[in-house]
Amino acid sequence: MVELDSPCKVNLVLNILGRRADGFHELETLMLPVPVHDRLRFAEAPSGIELTCSDSRLPVDGSNLVHRAASAFLAQAGISKGVAIHLEKRIPMAAGLGGGSGNAATTLLGLNRLFDSVLSGESLNRLAQGLGSDVPFFLQDKPALAVGRGEQVRSLAPFSTLQGCGLLLVHPGFGISTPWAYQQLARFPQVLRGQPGRAQQLADALQAGRLADVGGLLFNSLEAPALEKYPILGLYQDRLSKAGALGRLMSGSGSSTFALFAKPDVARKAEVDFKNTFTACWTAVVTL
Ligand code: C5P
Repeated sequence: MVELDSPCKVNLVLNILGRRADGFHELETLMLPVPVHDRLRFAEAPSGIELTCSDSRLPVDGSNLVHRAASAFLAQAGISKGVAIHLEKRIPMAAGLGGGSGNAATTLLGLNRLFDSVLSGESLNRLAQGLGSDVPFFLQDKPALAVGRGEQVRSLAPFSTLQGCGLLLVHPGFGISTPWAYQQLARFPQVLRGQPGRAQQLADALQAGRLADVGGLLFNSLEAPALEKYPILGLYQDRLSKAGALGRLMSGSGSSTFALFAKPDVARKAEVDFKNTFTACWTAVVTL
């Protein structure tokens, strides 16, 4: 049996550069792994893929990314045995935190461990790309700069500037569909054609220890449609700034917002203030 944590992420920068002929969007993104985890357990079974999940709202059939990852892995590795997988869900869904993508990548890594590293890293990466744009990021555990549709990942050294900072995640209790968010960009032509360089600029600032510059360099093109449809997310941002955040931003295609604080205890105070102000469904504070 193999048991693994499945982390989430925030996008410190998500800069859309244009629409592609294949319907996806060309982008550059600076992604940070966040230690809020789901947990996955893998065991061999006589045949088939038997998936169970702690959250009954999540389908456990072939539409689940974990199921699809397991199926792709077994086919690629030519394994005729089956697997039993249990998913303990803690990361909110449709939240822009990459929970499902992380689960898919963790499934590839977990099954490869269960079956004695039958597939190479390169082969896992190819499978990950086929499962979703964010999945390859989760095959590694460092901050990364990703380009293309997000699947071309360059790992970066952990940002020592952020070490010891507090990160507050807040989720409003409703999700935002990723295809919806991207489709809306057609109504925001300026946002649809961002100037490249923002992701590298923030990576440079972090690598040079310029923590005070981080807030001004956080950027997400997908905020435009999300803040228009859900003004509450703008109110969240104002409140988090007033509570002393160095910066705050919606993550991915939403609906989560993250806020960065110089110290975890300031982040925890902001969490209490936030919960007293809004009836948010879910919050978490982590020390980076
Ligand atoms: O790759 P993934 O399955 O996460 O993408 C979900 C949807 O998000 C795509 O079908 C597409 O509508 C949109 N998307 C996009 N451009 C990207 C990533 C995702 O348009 N770079």
